Amino acid sequence: DAASKGTYDFYMLKEICEQPGVLRHLDQFYLDQNGKPKVSAAIIDALAKADKLYIFAAGTSYHAGLVGKLLFEKLTKIPTEVGFASEAGYHFPMMSQHPFFIFLSQSGETADSRVVLQEAIKRNIPSLTLTNVPESTLAREANYSMALEAGPEIAVASTKAYTAQVAVQAVIAKALGEKMGDDAAAAFKLKQNLALAAEGIEQVVSNQEKIEQLAQKDLIPSRNAFYIGRGIDYPVALEAALKLKEVSYIQTEGFAAAELKHGTISLIEKGTPVIALINDPLTADLMRGNIQEVVARGANVITIVNKSLAQTGDDIILPEVDYFLSPLVTVVVTQLLAYFAAKDKGLDVDKPRNLAKSVTVE
Ligand code: G6P
Repeated sequence: DAASKGTYDFYMLKEICEQPGVLRHLDQFYLDQNGKPKVSAAIIDALAKADKLYIFAAGTSYHAGLVGKLLFEKLTKIPTEVGFASEAGYHFPMMSQHPFFIFLSQSGETADSRVVLQEAIKRNIPSLTLTNVPESTLAREANYSMALEAGPEIAVASTKAYTAQVAVQAVIAKALGEKMGDDAAAAFKLKQNLALAAEGIEQVVSNQEKIEQLAQKDLIPSRNAFYIGRGIDYPVALEAALKLKEVSYIQTEGFAAAELKHGTISLIEKGTPVIALINDPLTADLMRGNIQEVVARGANVITIVNKSLAQTGDDIILPEVDYFLSPLVTVVVTQLLAYFAAKDKGLDVDKPRNLAKSVTVE
């Protein structure tokens, strides 16, 4: 059954491996045969009235929101802001004329997000919750809710809920953009790319021995590490860093690659692992320059690169998927690096110290 570990050592690995199935299910659930989104007209009509979208979340869901912003802005042209729920609750951002709030929450119970939703209700701001638990508080209290349909996520470190959040935001962005007559939304091949992403994740998972070797050789011996990326790879670098540090206890930071040189590069020493994510054709050459900067300081660089941008010597080559859905595949390599770094250190991967699956206090 969905909640048993089966033959896997840990739920985290099981849930990582379930992601192709989750994406295929979301395709069936949210897209018709021709790739048209099946989203309630009431939700799309309400969203279409907004002059600005505000996404609120915590932790991994916040990182999914950062990718969502890029999808919404690309496919709908509606300016989108992403905030930590914990900050917005007490320092409410300035509102546009017609705001619309989107809450992302695996559990639907995060107290920090509930505070913001209560404020939205008071101010009559329309809201939509995307959650893996349709009967949860955030789902019930928002005006609208949509299910992530990822199946129960047991490991404390979130994996398949993240990819489901990215995919469902893509569905909504496409549906909304099409409703608004946006050309980019009409041209966005979501169905095909969800299929490509599912296949791509299968390829990544089948390459897990290589990923485990990298974790053992480069990550486990280090007390710290960096992820760097530009464009859509930046929010993925933030999520990748969170995943690695939360389960392996290796202190990891995610950076917009060019920012490293403005201070943090002073932390790079001989052997410091720097993991570079390269999916953005616009900045791929600049990324190579940023890699050279850290190599010159002794960093031990691991490259995770889209096939179309790969060079000899790159470590992990990612199968091609539309740039705006590339996080679905890239993140899985980083989930596996985190998983193996923790497992091969002998840690309790599913229950990292000090963490809870859902945090119901502010
Ligand atoms: C906790 C979990 C994180 C999660 C965050 C937000 O801190 O340990 O993995 O990302 O809450 O949870 P939510 O259920 O709102 O997505």
